[in-house]
Amino acid sequence: MVESMRKSTLAERQEWIKKASYNLFNLRSEQVFIDLLTDSGTGAMSDRQWSAMMTGDESYAGASSYYNLKDSIREITGFEYFLPTHQGRAAENVLFSVLVKEGDVIPGNAHFDTTKGHIEFRGAKAVDCTVDIARDTTAIDPFKGNIDLDHLEKVIVETPHEKLGCIVMTVTNNTAGGQPVSMANLRGVRKLADKYKVLVIIDSARFAENAYFIKTREEGYADKTIREIAFEMFSYADGMTMSSKKDAIVNMGGFIGFRDKELFRKASTFNIMFEGFVTYGGMSGRDMNALARGLYEGTEFEFLESRITQVARLGEKLHNAGVPVQMPYGGHAIFIDAKKFLAQVPVEEFPAQRLAVEIYLEGGIRAVEIGAIMADRDPVTRENRYPALELVRLALPRRVYTDNHIDYTAAAIINVFERRNTIKRGMAIKWEAPIMRHFTVELDLIS
Ligand code: F0G
Repeated sequence: MVESMRKSTLAERQEWIKKASYNLFNLRSEQVFIDLLTDSGTGAMSDRQWSAMMTGDESYAGASSYYNLKDSIREITGFEYFLPTHQGRAAENVLFSVLVKEGDVIPGNAHFDTTKGHIEFRGAKAVDCTVDIARDTTAIDPFKGNIDLDHLEKVIVETPHEKLGCIVMTVTNNTAGGQPVSMANLRGVRKLADKYKVLVIIDSARFAENAYFIKTREEGYADKTIREIAFEMFSYADGMTMSSKKDAIVNMGGFIGFRDKELFRKASTFNIMFEGFVTYGGMSGRDMNALARGLYEGTEFEFLESRITQVARLGEKLHNAGVPVQMPYGGHAIFIDAKKFLAQVPVEEFPAQRLAVEIYLEGGIRAVEIGAIMADRDPVTRENRYPALELVRLALPRRVYTDNHIDYTAAAIINVFERRNTIKRGMAIKWEAPIMRHFTVELDLIS
Protein backbone atom coordinates (compact mmCIF):
# COMPACT_ATOMS: atom_id res chain seq x y z
CA MET A 1 0.00 0.00 0.00
CA VAL A 2 1.40 3.41 -0.96
CA GLU A 3 0.11 6.56 0.68
CA SER A 4 0.99 10.18 0.00
CA MET A 5 2.58 12.28 2.73
CA ARG A 6 2.21 16.00 3.34
CA LYS A 7 4.97 18.33 4.45
CA SER A 8 4.02 21.22 6.74
CA THR A 9 5.58 24.38 8.09
CA LEU A 10 6.62 25.05 11.66
CA ALA A 11 3.89 27.71 11.97
CA GLU A 12 1.26 25.16 10.88
CA ARG A 13 2.54 22.56 13.32
CA GLN A 14 2.55 25.09 16.18
CA GLU A 15 -1.09 25.88 15.52
CA TRP A 16 -2.15 22.23 15.08
CA ILE A 17 -0.47 20.93 18.21
CA LYS A 18 -1.92 23.77 20.29
CA LYS A 19 -5.40 22.96 18.97
CA ALA A 20 -4.70 19.30 19.83
CA SER A 21 -4.07 20.37 23.47
CA TYR A 22 -0.49 19.16 23.09
CA ASN A 23 -1.72 15.58 22.91
CA LEU A 24 -0.30 13.89 19.80
CA PHE A 25 -3.23 11.44 19.70
CA ASN A 26 -5.45 14.43 18.86
CA LEU A 27 -3.62 15.31 15.63
CA ARG A 28 -5.13 14.44 12.28
CA SER A 29 -2.99 12.01 10.31
CA GLU A 30 -2.46 14.54 7.51
CA GLN A 31 -0.88 16.88 10.05
CA VAL A 32 1.83 14.27 10.59
CA PHE A 33 4.75 13.77 8.17
CA ILE A 34 6.23 10.57 9.62
CA ASP A 35 3.98 8.66 11.97
CA LEU A 36 5.87 6.72 14.62
CA LEU A 37 3.05 6.88 17.17
CA THR A 38 2.68 3.13 17.10
CA ASP A 39 3.52 -0.05 15.23
CA SER A 40 0.01 -1.28 16.02
CA GLY A 41 -2.31 -1.82 13.05
CA THR A 42 -0.12 0.47 10.95
CA GLY A 43 1.77 -2.17 8.97
CA ALA A 44 1.32 -2.70 5.23
CA MET A 45 -0.36 -5.99 4.32
CA SER A 46 1.18 -8.16 1.62
CA ASP A 47 -0.23 -9.23 -1.75
CA ARG A 48 -0.94 -12.65 -0.23
CA GLN A 49 -2.84 -11.12 2.69
CA TRP A 50 -4.95 -8.94 0.40
CA SER A 51 -5.74 -11.90 -1.81
CA ALA A 52 -6.66 -13.99 1.26
CA MET A 53 -9.18 -11.26 2.11
CA MET A 54 -10.97 -11.87 -1.18
CA THR A 55 -11.79 -15.41 -0.11
CA GLY A 56 -13.06 -14.49 3.35
CA ASP A 57 -16.03 -16.57 4.49
CA GLU A 58 -18.53 -14.32 6.26
CA SER A 59 -20.73 -17.07 7.71
CA TYR A 60 -21.89 -16.29 11.22
CA ALA A 61 -20.88 -19.71 12.54
CA GLY A 62 -18.25 -22.18 11.41
CA ALA A 63 -16.72 -20.05 8.64
CA SER A 64 -13.79 -21.54 6.72
CA SER A 65 -11.84 -18.37 7.63
CA TYR A 66 -12.21 -19.32 11.30
CA TYR A 67 -10.75 -22.76 10.59
CA ASN A 68 -7.90 -21.24 8.53
CA LEU A 69 -7.03 -19.10 11.52
CA LYS A 70 -7.41 -21.99 13.95
CA ASP A 71 -4.93 -24.07 11.90
CA SER A 72 -2.42 -21.26 11.72
CA ILE A 73 -2.65 -20.52 15.47
CA ARG A 74 -2.30 -24.20 16.35
CA GLU A 75 0.74 -24.62 14.10
CA ILE A 76 2.54 -21.49 15.35
CA THR A 77 1.62 -21.42 19.04
CA GLY A 78 0.57 -24.97 19.84
CA PHE A 79 -2.66 -23.77 21.49
CA GLU A 80 -5.49 -26.17 20.72
CA TYR A 81 -8.31 -23.78 21.63
CA PHE A 82 -8.69 -20.16 20.63
CA LEU A 83 -11.17 -17.28 20.57
CA PRO A 84 -11.00 -14.44 18.04
CA THR A 85 -11.36 -10.90 19.42
CA HIS A 86 -11.30 -7.54 17.71
CA GLN A 87 -7.93 -6.56 19.22
CA GLY A 88 -5.52 -7.22 22.08
CA ARG A 89 -7.30 -5.34 24.83
CA ALA A 90 -10.52 -7.16 23.95
CA ALA A 91 -8.67 -10.43 24.47
CA GLU A 92 -7.56 -9.11 27.88
CA ASN A 93 -11.12 -8.10 28.72
CA VAL A 94 -12.51 -11.54 27.91
CA LEU A 95 -9.74 -13.57 29.56
CA PHE A 96 -9.52 -11.40 32.69
CA SER A 97 -13.28 -11.66 33.11
CA VAL A 98 -12.54 -15.28 33.97
CA LEU A 99 -9.12 -15.02 35.65
CA VAL A 100 -9.10 -11.73 37.57
CA LYS A 101 -11.35 -10.68 40.46
CA GLU A 102 -11.34 -7.88 43.02
CA GLY A 103 -8.39 -8.05 45.41
CA ASP A 104 -6.31 -10.29 43.13
CA VAL A 105 -2.62 -9.78 42.49
CA ILE A 106 -1.27 -10.16 38.95
CA PRO A 107 2.52 -10.15 38.73
CA GLY A 108 4.31 -9.71 35.42
CA ASN A 109 7.52 -8.53 33.77
CA ALA A 110 5.82 -5.13 33.03
CA HIS A 111 2.19 -4.91 32.07
CA PHE A 112 1.21 -2.85 29.05
CA ASP A 113 -1.15 0.00 29.95
CA THR A 114 -4.35 -1.63 28.66
CA THR A 115 -3.41 -4.82 30.52
CA LYS A 116 -2.87 -2.83 33.69
CA GLY A 117 -6.11 -0.95 32.96
CA HIS A 118 -8.14 -4.17 32.72
CA ILE A 119 -6.56 -5.48 35.94
CA GLU A 120 -7.08 -2.27 37.93
CA PHE A 121 -10.58 -1.77 36.54
CA ARG A 122 -11.47 -5.08 38.24
CA GLY A 123 -10.07 -3.85 41.56
CA ALA A 124 -7.00 -6.08 41.29
CA LYS A 125 -3.34 -5.12 41.52
CA ALA A 126 -0.80 -5.37 38.70
CA VAL A 127 2.69 -5.85 40.12
CA ASP A 128 5.63 -5.19 37.81
CA CYS A 129 8.61 -7.40 38.65
CA THR A 130 10.83 -5.97 35.92
CA VAL A 131 14.55 -6.72 36.23
CA ASP A 132 16.43 -3.76 37.73
CA ILE A 133 18.81 -3.47 34.80
CA ALA A 134 15.92 -2.41 32.52
CA ARG A 135 15.84 0.89 34.40
CA ASP A 136 19.39 1.73 33.35
CA THR A 137 19.06 2.81 29.73
CA THR A 138 22.82 2.70 29.16
CA ALA A 139 23.32 -0.89 30.37
CA ILE A 140 23.89 -3.43 27.61
CA ASP A 141 22.16 -6.70 28.42
CA PRO A 142 20.65 -9.09 25.88
CA PHE A 143 17.39 -9.66 27.79
CA LYS A 144 16.35 -6.50 29.60
CA GLY A 145 12.69 -7.52 29.18
CA ASN A 146 13.05 -10.38 31.68
CA ILE A 147 11.09 -10.78 34.88
CA ASP A 148 13.03 -10.75 38.15
CA LEU A 149 12.37 -14.35 39.24
CA ASP A 150 13.21 -13.69 42.90
CA HIS A 151 10.83 -10.75 43.00
CA LEU A 152 8.17 -12.88 41.30
CA GLU A 153 8.59 -15.68 43.84
CA LYS A 154 8.37 -13.16 46.69
CA VAL A 155 5.09 -11.78 45.32
CA ILE A 156 3.72 -15.32 44.89
CA VAL A 157 4.72 -16.38 48.41
CA GLU A 158 3.32 -13.22 50.01
CA THR A 159 -0.04 -13.45 48.21
CA PRO A 160 -2.75 -15.88 49.38
CA HIS A 161 -2.99 -18.53 46.67
CA GLU A 162 -6.64 -17.85 45.82
CA LYS A 163 -5.73 -14.24 45.06
CA LEU A 164 -3.14 -15.09 42.42
CA GLY A 165 -5.14 -14.67 39.22
CA CYS A 166 -2.24 -15.42 36.87
CA ILE A 167 1.27 -14.33 35.87
CA VAL A 168 1.46 -12.17 32.73
CA MET A 169 4.64 -12.29 30.65
CA THR A 170 4.75 -9.60 27.96
CA VAL A 171 6.98 -10.43 24.98
CA THR A 172 8.71 -8.30 23.95
CA ASN A 173 8.52 -6.06 26.98
CA ASN A 174 7.01 -2.90 25.49
CA THR A 175 7.11 -0.80 28.66
CA ALA A 176 10.81 -1.56 29.28
CA GLY A 177 11.73 -0.40 25.78
CA GLY A 178 10.79 -3.22 23.41
CA GLN A 179 13.30 -5.43 25.21
CA PRO A 180 13.15 -9.21 24.82
CA VAL A 181 12.55 -11.97 27.37
CA SER A 182 14.92 -14.95 27.24
CA MET A 183 13.81 -18.56 26.90
CA ALA A 184 15.64 -19.30 30.16
CA ASN A 185 13.51 -16.66 31.88
CA LEU A 186 10.27 -18.10 30.48
CA ARG A 187 11.40 -21.54 31.62
CA GLY A 188 12.08 -20.10 35.07
CA VAL A 189 8.60 -18.62 35.23
CA ARG A 190 7.09 -22.00 34.27
CA LYS A 191 9.06 -23.69 37.06
CA LEU A 192 7.70 -21.26 39.66
CA ALA A 193 4.21 -21.53 38.19
CA ASP A 194 4.33 -25.32 38.52
CA LYS A 195 5.73 -25.12 42.04
CA TYR A 196 2.99 -22.75 43.25
CA LYS A 197 0.21 -23.82 40.83
CA VAL A 198 -0.34 -20.47 39.10
CA LEU A 199 -1.37 -19.91 35.48
CA VAL A 200 1.02 -18.25 33.05
CA ILE A 201 -0.37 -16.05 30.29
CA ILE A 202 1.84 -14.63 27.55
CA ASP A 203 0.89 -11.20 26.22
CA SER A 204 2.15 -12.05 22.76
CA ALA A 205 1.82 -8.83 20.73
CA ARG A 206 5.48 -9.01 19.62
CA PHE A 207 6.26 -12.69 20.14
CA ALA A 208 8.02 -13.06 16.76
CA GLU A 209 10.38 -10.16 17.45
CA ASN A 210 11.09 -11.78 20.82
CA ALA A 211 11.86 -15.08 19.06
CA TYR A 212 14.25 -13.23 16.70
CA PHE A 213 16.20 -11.90 19.69
CA ILE A 214 16.33 -15.38 21.26
CA LYS A 215 17.67 -16.77 17.97
CA THR A 216 20.33 -14.08 17.63
CA ARG A 217 21.28 -13.67 21.30
CA GLU A 218 20.60 -16.79 23.38
CA GLU A 219 22.92 -19.75 23.37
CA GLY A 220 21.54 -22.85 21.71
CA TYR A 221 18.98 -21.14 19.45
CA ALA A 222 21.05 -19.90 16.48
CA ASP A 223 20.12 -22.92 14.34
CA LYS A 224 16.44 -23.02 15.26
CA THR A 225 13.78 -21.37 13.12
CA ILE A 226 11.68 -18.47 14.44
CA ARG A 227 8.64 -20.77 14.47
CA GLU A 228 10.43 -23.45 16.48
CA ILE A 229 11.49 -20.82 19.00
CA ALA A 230 8.02 -19.27 19.20
CA PHE A 231 6.49 -22.73 19.69
CA GLU A 232 8.85 -23.39 22.60
CA MET A 233 8.09 -19.98 24.15
CA PHE A 234 4.37 -20.74 24.13
CA SER A 235 4.96 -24.24 25.51
CA TYR A 236 5.75 -22.59 28.88
CA ALA A 237 2.37 -20.84 29.04
CA ASP A 238 -1.19 -21.91 29.84
CA GLY A 239 -2.67 -19.30 27.57
CA MET A 240 -1.96 -16.23 25.51
CA THR A 241 -3.52 -12.95 24.56
CA MET A 242 -2.59 -11.51 21.20
CA SER A 243 -2.88 -8.11 19.64
CA SER A 244 -2.54 -9.25 16.04
CA LYS A 245 -2.01 -5.64 14.95
CA LYS A 246 1.68 -5.95 15.67
CA ASP A 247 3.60 -9.10 14.77
CA ALA A 248 0.80 -10.62 12.69
CA ILE A 249 0.79 -7.51 10.45
CA VAL A 250 -2.95 -6.90 10.20
CA ASN A 251 -4.75 -3.62 10.69
CA MET A 252 -7.23 -5.03 13.18
CA GLY A 253 -7.60 -8.26 15.12
CA GLY A 254 -6.66 -10.28 18.15
CA PHE A 255 -7.21 -13.60 19.84
CA ILE A 256 -6.85 -15.66 23.00
CA GLY A 257 -5.14 -19.05 22.97
CA PHE A 258 -5.84 -21.76 25.59
CA ARG A 259 -4.49 -25.17 26.43
CA ASP A 260 -7.29 -26.06 28.84
CA LYS A 261 -10.76 -26.76 27.46
CA GLU A 262 -12.49 -25.73 30.66
CA LEU A 263 -10.88 -22.29 30.67
CA PHE A 264 -11.72 -21.91 26.99
CA ARG A 265 -15.35 -22.76 27.74
CA LYS A 266 -15.60 -20.23 30.55
CA ALA A 267 -14.04 -17.51 28.40
CA SER A 268 -16.35 -18.38 25.49
CA THR A 269 -19.35 -17.03 27.41
CA PHE A 270 -17.65 -13.66 27.87
CA ASN A 271 -16.51 -13.69 24.25
CA ILE A 272 -20.09 -14.12 23.10
CA MET A 273 -21.16 -11.27 25.39
CA PHE A 274 -18.42 -8.78 24.55
CA GLU A 275 -17.06 -9.71 21.11
CA GLY A 276 -19.27 -12.04 19.10
CA PHE A 277 -19.94 -15.71 18.54
CA VAL A 278 -16.95 -17.97 19.19
CA THR A 279 -16.11 -18.48 15.51
CA TYR A 280 -15.79 -14.80 14.65
CA GLY A 281 -15.60 -12.82 17.95
CA GLY A 282 -15.21 -9.29 16.66
CA MET A 283 -13.54 -10.13 13.36
CA SER A 284 -14.90 -10.47 9.86
CA GLY A 285 -14.06 -13.61 7.87
CA ARG A 286 -11.76 -11.69 5.51
CA ASP A 287 -9.85 -10.24 8.46
CA MET A 288 -9.38 -13.74 9.96
CA ASN A 289 -7.99 -14.91 6.59
CA ALA A 290 -5.50 -12.02 6.46
CA LEU A 291 -4.47 -12.76 10.04
CA ALA A 292 -4.00 -16.48 9.35
CA ARG A 293 -1.59 -15.51 6.56
CA GLY A 294 0.04 -12.69 8.58
CA LEU A 295 1.04 -15.07 11.37
CA TYR A 296 3.22 -16.95 8.86
CA GLU A 297 4.70 -13.81 7.27
CA GLY A 298 5.43 -12.23 10.64
CA THR A 299 7.46 -15.26 11.70
CA GLU A 300 9.76 -15.29 8.67
CA PHE A 301 13.37 -14.69 9.64
CA GLU A 302 14.17 -12.53 6.58
CA PHE A 303 11.28 -10.18 7.30
CA LEU A 304 12.17 -9.89 10.99
CA GLU A 305 15.81 -9.26 10.19
CA SER A 306 15.06 -6.41 7.77
CA ARG A 307 12.59 -4.87 10.22
CA ILE A 308 14.73 -5.10 13.34
CA THR A 309 17.77 -3.87 11.42
CA GLN A 310 15.81 -0.82 10.31
CA VAL A 311 14.87 -0.06 13.92
CA ALA A 312 18.56 -0.42 14.83
CA ARG A 313 19.52 1.99 12.02
CA LEU A 314 17.49 4.71 13.75
CA GLY A 315 18.97 3.76 17.12
CA GLU A 316 22.51 3.82 15.79
CA LYS A 317 22.17 7.27 14.21
CA LEU A 318 20.76 8.74 17.42
CA HIS A 319 23.24 6.97 19.68
CA ASN A 320 26.21 8.07 17.57
CA ALA A 321 25.04 11.69 17.89
CA GLY A 322 24.93 11.35 21.68
CA VAL A 323 21.13 11.13 22.01
CA PRO A 324 20.37 8.97 25.09
CA VAL A 325 18.34 5.93 23.95
CA GLN A 326 17.46 2.65 25.65
CA MET A 327 20.28 0.22 24.88
CA PRO A 328 20.38 -2.22 23.25
CA TYR A 329 17.90 -1.13 20.58
CA GLY A 330 14.39 -2.53 20.96
CA GLY A 331 12.53 -4.72 18.49
CA HIS A 332 9.71 -2.46 17.36
CA ALA A 333 10.89 0.93 18.51
CA ILE A 334 13.64 3.19 19.74
CA PHE A 335 13.03 4.67 23.16
CA ILE A 336 14.63 8.02 24.01
CA ASP A 337 15.54 8.61 27.65
CA ALA A 338 13.78 11.94 28.21
CA LYS A 339 15.08 12.45 31.76
CA LYS A 340 18.59 12.57 30.32
CA PHE A 341 17.65 14.40 27.11
CA LEU A 342 15.76 17.18 28.92
CA ALA A 343 17.60 17.05 32.22
CA GLN A 344 16.38 20.50 33.24
CA VAL A 345 12.68 19.65 33.04
CA PRO A 346 11.34 18.32 36.38
CA VAL A 347 9.49 14.97 36.24
CA GLU A 348 6.37 16.72 37.61
CA GLU A 349 6.29 18.60 34.28
CA PHE A 350 6.35 15.45 32.14
CA PRO A 351 9.67 15.74 30.26
CA ALA A 352 8.88 12.86 27.89
CA GLN A 353 5.66 14.52 26.75
CA ARG A 354 7.50 17.81 26.26
CA LEU A 355 10.12 16.04 24.17
CA ALA A 356 7.50 14.31 22.02
CA VAL A 357 5.93 17.72 21.35
CA GLU A 358 9.32 19.22 20.43
CA ILE A 359 10.04 16.36 18.01
CA TYR A 360 6.69 16.99 16.33
CA LEU A 361 7.36 20.72 16.07
CA GLU A 362 10.81 20.07 14.63
CA GLY A 363 10.00 17.56 11.91
CA GLY A 364 6.29 16.69 11.87
CA ILE A 365 7.21 13.34 13.43
CA ARG A 366 4.69 11.80 15.80
CA ALA A 367 6.04 9.74 18.69
CA VAL A 368 4.43 8.72 21.99
CA GLU A 369 5.16 9.40 25.65
CA ILE A 370 5.84 6.38 27.84
CA GLY A 371 6.34 8.12 31.14
CA ALA A 372 4.37 9.63 33.99
CA ILE A 373 1.34 10.55 31.88
CA MET A 374 0.97 6.97 30.69
CA ALA A 375 1.80 5.62 34.18
CA ASP A 376 -1.35 7.39 35.38
CA ARG A 377 -2.44 7.96 38.97
CA ASP A 378 -2.37 5.33 41.70
CA PRO A 379 -5.93 3.93 41.77
CA VAL A 380 -6.04 4.12 45.58
CA THR A 381 -4.13 7.28 46.54
CA ARG A 382 -4.89 9.11 43.23
CA GLU A 383 -1.34 10.49 43.35
CA ASN A 384 0.65 10.75 40.11
CA ARG A 385 2.90 7.73 39.60
CA TYR A 386 6.41 8.64 38.46
CA PRO A 387 8.02 5.62 36.79
CA ALA A 388 11.77 5.08 36.86
CA LEU A 389 11.94 5.87 33.16
CA GLU A 390 10.54 8.81 31.20
CA LEU A 391 10.65 7.57 27.62
CA VAL A 392 9.65 8.82 24.19
CA ARG A 393 8.91 5.91 21.91
CA LEU A 394 9.53 6.02 18.16
CA ALA A 395 7.68 2.92 16.94
CA LEU A 396 8.20 1.77 13.37
CA PRO A 397 5.23 0.48 11.39
CA ARG A 398 6.01 -2.76 9.56
CA ARG A 399 6.84 -2.67 5.85
CA VAL A 400 5.95 1.04 5.56
CA TYR A 401 8.91 3.43 5.76
CA THR A 402 12.19 3.43 3.84
CA ASP A 403 15.63 4.06 5.29
CA ASN A 404 15.33 7.58 3.87
CA HIS A 405 12.44 8.26 6.27
CA ILE A 406 14.56 6.86 9.07
CA ASP A 407 17.45 9.19 8.22
CA TYR A 408 15.12 12.20 8.13
CA THR A 409 13.72 11.23 11.54
CA ALA A 410 17.18 10.89 13.06
CA ALA A 411 18.25 14.28 11.65
CA ALA A 412 15.18 16.03 13.10
CA ILE A 413 15.71 14.51 16.56
CA ILE A 414 19.39 15.42 16.50
CA ASN A 415 18.34 19.02 15.76
CA VAL A 416 16.19 19.01 18.89
CA PHE A 417 19.07 17.48 20.84
CA GLU A 418 21.35 20.31 19.77
CA ARG A 419 18.96 22.91 21.17
CA ARG A 420 17.98 20.90 24.26
CA ASN A 421 19.42 23.42 26.73
CA THR A 422 16.90 26.03 25.61
CA ILE A 423 14.03 23.77 26.80
CA LYS A 424 13.75 24.31 30.54
CA ARG A 425 10.08 23.71 31.32
CA GLY A 426 7.57 20.98 30.54
CA MET A 427 3.80 20.54 30.47
CA ALA A 428 0.84 20.98 32.82
CA ILE A 429 -2.32 18.85 32.73
CA LYS A 430 -5.52 20.80 31.92
CA TRP A 431 -7.89 17.84 31.88
CA GLU A 432 -7.53 14.09 32.33
CA ALA A 433 -9.71 10.97 32.27
CA PRO A 434 -9.97 8.91 35.49
CA ILE A 435 -8.19 5.88 33.92
CA MET A 436 -5.80 5.42 30.97
CA ARG A 437 -5.51 9.18 30.73
CA HIS A 438 -2.71 9.40 28.18
CA PHE A 439 -4.95 8.81 25.17
CA THR A 440 -7.19 11.80 25.87
CA VAL A 441 -5.26 14.08 28.24
CA GLU A 442 -5.30 17.83 27.51
CA LEU A 443 -2.17 19.80 28.29
CA ASP A 444 -0.64 23.26 28.35
CA LEU A 445 2.91 24.10 27.47
CA ILE A 446 4.76 25.77 30.34
CA SER A 447 7.08 28.32 28.80
N1 F0G B 1 -0.16 -5.79 24.90
C1 F0G B 1 0.89 -5.10 24.45
C2 F0G B 1 2.27 -5.52 24.81
C3 F0G B 1 0.68 -3.99 23.62
O1 F0G B 1 1.73 -3.31 23.18
C4 F0G B 1 -0.64 -3.64 23.27
C5 F0G B 1 -0.91 -2.49 22.41
C6 F0G B 1 -1.70 -4.40 23.77
C7 F0G B 1 -1.42 -5.47 24.58
C8 F0G B 1 -3.13 -4.07 23.45
O2 F0G B 1 -3.43 -4.43 22.14
O3 F0G B 1 -3.94 -2.27 20.97
O4 F0G B 1 -4.64 -4.48 20.03
O5 F0G B 1 -5.77 -3.57 22.01
N2 F0G B 1 -0.04 -1.67 22.11
C9 F0G B 1 -0.14 -0.55 21.19
C10 F0G B 1 1.14 0.22 21.24
C11 F0G B 1 -1.36 0.26 21.31
O6 F0G B 1 1.18 1.30 20.64
O7 F0G B 1 2.11 -0.24 21.82
P1 F0G B 1 -4.50 -3.64 21.24
